Amino acid sequence: MKIFIIGSGGREHALAWKLAGEGHEIFAAPGNPGIAQVAKVIPGADYFAIASSVNPDLTVVGPEAPLVAGVVDQFRSAGRAIVGPDQAHAQIEGSKIHSKELMQRLGIPTARFARIDTAEDGLAALARFDYPVVVKADGLAAGKGVIVAQHRSQAEAAVRTLGPRLIIEEFLTGEEVSFIVLCDGKTGLPLEATQDHKTVGDGDTGPNTGGMGAYCDGRILSSADAEKVMATVINPVIDATRFTGFLYAGLMMTQAGPKVLEFNVRLGDPETQPLMHRMEGGFGEVLMRAATGSLNGAELRWKAEPSVCVVMAAAGYPGQVRTGDAISGIEDCGAVVFQAGTRLGAKGLETAGGRVLGVTASGGALRAAVENTYAAAEKIHFEGMHYRRDIARKGLKRWDIGTIKTSGT
Ligand code: AMP
Ligand code: GLY
Repeated sequence: MKIFIIGSGGREHALAWKLAGEGHEIFAAPGNPGIAQVAKVIPGADYFAIASSVNPDLTVVGPEAPLVAGVVDQFRSAGRAIVGPDQAHAQIEGSKIHSKELMQRLGIPTARFARIDTAEDGLAALARFDYPVVVKADGLAAGKGVIVAQHRSQAEAAVRTLGPRLIIEEFLTGEEVSFIVLCDGKTGLPLEATQDHKTVGDGDTGPNTGGMGAYCDGRILSSADAEKVMATVINPVIDATRFTGFLYAGLMMTQAGPKVLEFNVRLGDPETQPLMHRMEGGFGEVLMRAATGSLNGAELRWKAEPSVCVVMAAAGYPGQVRTGDAISGIEDCGAVVFQAGTRLGAKGLETAGGRVLGVTASGGALRAAVENTYAAAEKIHFEGMHYRRDIARKGLKRWDIGTIKTSGT
């Protein structure tokens, strides 16, 4: 098949790598230098015009922004097969207020919340919550719209900076799990569960980012828990809304069972990197079935070996990022390196964004996967680079198989 991938990050590089590896012909826009190794990259962001000239059999949308802007509506009205939600359904991610009210209406387990429309309401509502309390901006914020406030003055500041339209909600504790399901409007086909690492620092410290690393291991969610999430979270959304595309439930596995922290309407980044690394063949055909409403009975198969992705970030990330640093050591590092914030410049491959690379490897056991990934990361260099040293450590701890050895720990 001829497959067109929209996006330019590590998630899209992983998708392009996987689908090219299955023998499909891949086109991508806007793309990046890593994607260009496995796909024909067409610069520009007029995706509809690009599709008109490439004429792909299938289009897959990576990021949320084109979905929220209505790219799926445009493609479908021209009869083009595309994986993703239309503009109205993209509001499930595009507006936290919409998303929480949908959960409330459908009885989906989630944190208790207040919908806020003015700063005055926000300050008044804070009195009804304990601390820490969670304050969330209503609109898209690239992972930066959520503040966990430890006390009243921090919460008031959060209401002022993220508002006026907000969600204030109770703080939940437990393991966080990313549960992503491919949907065709009637049927949901779950991918393996993954675990992301949202904060910039080891031990879940520092500010939130888009995600600093993720791993995929068949034990993250038991099949009983996965079935429970399908029954209580995913199927109600598909049944009520006829959702198409990837429905991503960010879950907190609380004492009282799984609760939804957020919905996204796309694959996760960096979750897609270990997912693509671990998935067996046939993904292209499954995506086509999703785009054509024939997902019922489709299957995805997974390799036994766990996979791990460590994100190497540029100086300053998640704040003001420095760009233009030369990147070396990718070719012979011994892992698959998915590129995100990179460009070809005077120094060759250079940094061009916050999350620069997603170093991804597997191993016979989770510990080996972690060690292989970090051994590869240590061979890569760019000025100011930083990465977490504890990706997948919670999994190792949970399954009681010892601690990891990586330099810097
Ligand atoms: P979100 O964009 O809603 O997923 O929030 C980003 C991150 O903030 C999540 O991945 C969690 O780590 C944290 N978070 C969000 N909501 C809550 C909550 N109700 N309780 C505890 N942590 C939360
Ligand atoms: N890694 C979290 C996200 O893609 O939203």
